[in-house]
Amino acid sequence: MVQGLLKGKKGIIFGALNEMSIAWKVAQEAHKQGAEFVLTNAPIAMRMGDINKLAEETGAQVIPADATKVEDLENLITQAQEILGGKIDFILHSIGMSPNVRKKKHYTDLNYEWYKTSLDVSAMSLHKTLSVCMKQDALNEWGSVVALTYIAAQRIFPDYNDMADAKSLLESIARGFGYHYGMKKKVRVNTISQSPTVTTAGSGVGGFDKFISYSEAMSPLGNAKAEDCANYCVAMFSDLTRYVTMQNLFHDGGFSATGVTQEVMDKF
Ligand SMILES: NC(=O)c1ccc[n+]([C@@H]2O[C@H](COP(=O)([O-])OP(=O)(O)OC[C@H]3O[C@@H](n4cnc5c(N)ncnc54)[C@H](O)[C@@H]3O)[C@@H](O)[C@H]2O)c1
Repeated sequence: MVQGLLKGKKGIIFGALNEMSIAWKVAQEAHKQGAEFVLTNAPIAMRMGDINKLAEETGAQVIPADATKVEDLENLITQAQEILGGKIDFILHSIGMSPNVRKKKHYTDLNYEWYKTSLDVSAMSLHKTLSVCMKQDALNEWGSVVALTYIAAQRIFPDYNDMADAKSLLESIARGFGYHYGMKKKVRVNTISQSPTVTTAGSGVGGFDKFISYSEAMSPLGNAKAEDCANYCVAMFSDLTRYVTMQNLFHDGGFSATGVTQEVMDKF
C-alpha cells in the first residue's frame, strides 16, 4: 500500500456522524496518508454523534456548520484556513438528508417544503460550499472536491424517493462548478457513486436490507465497502488523479454496468 499520498495537504471533511459514516472512514484514511484537516457537521449532529472521538483520533479540530447556511460556510472556510495555516487542497461533501424519506411521504405525494429541504441539504449545499470557497479564494490550484452520490440519480430505485432528484442535482452541480472552477483555478470537482452501505443515512431508505442483498448479487465484485470508498476518495484527493474532473465515478463493484448476474437469474 502506498503511504503519504496526502502528505502536506489540507482539507475539510463534511459529514462524519458516527463510526459507520463514510466520512468517518475517509477522515481515518486521509489521516493515515498524512493529511491535515478540519471536521465539520451540522450543529445538531454534534449532539447526536461522536465526532469529538474522531477529532481526537485524527488530531483534527471540529467546526460546526449547517451546510445550508452560507454564513456558517463562510465562517467554516475562514476558520479552516486559519487553523490549517493556508489554503485548502481537498473537500469531502458527504451530506444527505430527506425529510420526505424520513417521514415516509410517497414520491407521488411529496411535502414540497420538505422537498426543498432535501435539495438544499443534499445538493445545493455543494454549490454554496464551492461558491464560498471561490469568493474567499480558499482552494489551492489542483485542489480536489469530492461529493458522494448514488446511482438513483440515473436509474429509478423507487424507495430512494426525492433523494434521487437531489443526487441528480448534486451531480449536475459537480459538472457545472467543475467547469468554472477548473477554468479559473484548476480545481477539480467530482462525484463518487457508492454502493449501498450500512450507515445512518443509508439505513433510512425503505427496504434497505433487501436492497443491499440485491445490489450485492448484482455486482461482480460485490458491494463496495465504506473503507474502500475512503481509499477511492483519498486517491481522488491525491496528485495521482490531477486530470480527473466533472465526472460521476462509479465505486460499486460493477453494479452500474451489469444487466443481470447468474445468481439473480437463478432466483427466477
Ligand atoms: N449509505 C449509503 O448507502 C450511501 C450510498 C451512496 C451514497 N451515499 C452518500 O454518502 C453520503 C454520506 O452518507 P452516509 O451513508 O455516510 O450517512 P451518514 O448519516 O453517516 O452521513 C450523512 C451526514 O449528513 C450530515 N448532515 C445532514 N444535514 C446536514 C446539514 N444541514 N449540514 C451539514 N451536514 C448535514 C449528517 O449529520 C451526517 O453526518 C451522503 O451523501 C449519502 O447520500 C450513501
